Amino acid sequence: MTGDALRRVGCAGLVGAAATAVVAVAQVAALQGQPGDDFTAYLPPGDGKALVTQQCTSCHDLQGVVRLRAVAAEWETLVLDMGARGAPIMLDDVDPLVKYLSTAFGPNAPPFTDANAATNADLTRLPGVTPQAAGRLIAARSAGPLTSVEQVRTALGLDASAFEKIKYYLYVKPVEPAGNQ
Ligand code: HEC
Repeated sequence: MTGDALRRVGCAGLVGAAATAVVAVAQVAALQGQPGDDFTAYLPPGDGKALVTQQCTSCHDLQGVVRLRAVAAEWETLVLDMGARGAPIMLDDVDPLVKYLSTAFGPNAPPFTDANAATNADLTRLPGVTPQAAGRLIAARSAGPLTSVEQVRTALGLDASAFEKIKYYLYVKPVEPAGNQ
């Protein structure tokens, strides 16, 4: 292992000039921030997840990441741009980061969906969710916001393996700290 392999991308002059254009893609309406809601719970399992958790959370939360859908080349440009902005990314980390991000958040990944705000049409964009299941979820939340993924799964009537495919893409309002209601 040479020193080269340990160079940080920000120091290696690899930064793509088009990076700002990709970042602009992620300017989506922000969810209302909730205390303790760091969005790492919305990272699907996979190689590279730990890297994202370690390297992408020191400056901002992961809301912009979990909402963005982009192809590998766009994720690579973005990762290199983050290196230029000071993210502690080693050259060897770029490929695993890009593979993970473009799989978990590629163009065909389910859209990030707020379970408490989504319409029936939004919900049926999630694989395996029928209009009937979406209707059950909307009925279930009429009593108050859903606060756990298990409530969402039960309302949709999906078994664990069907739910596994979509659960990381469903935002659920975190439980408010006591006394803050
Ligand atoms: C050293 C600080 C830093 C680290 C670490 C960092 N970023 Fe960023 N990130 C920024 C800055 C600064 C912006 C620009 C915010 C803006 O649009 O003004 C940004 C914006 C973004 C955006 C655009 C949407 C948003 O949230 O505003 C995405 C997506 C993103 N970063 C992903 C990542 C990923 C993936 C990693 C890990 C590989 C990472 N960031 C690590 C500083 C950082």
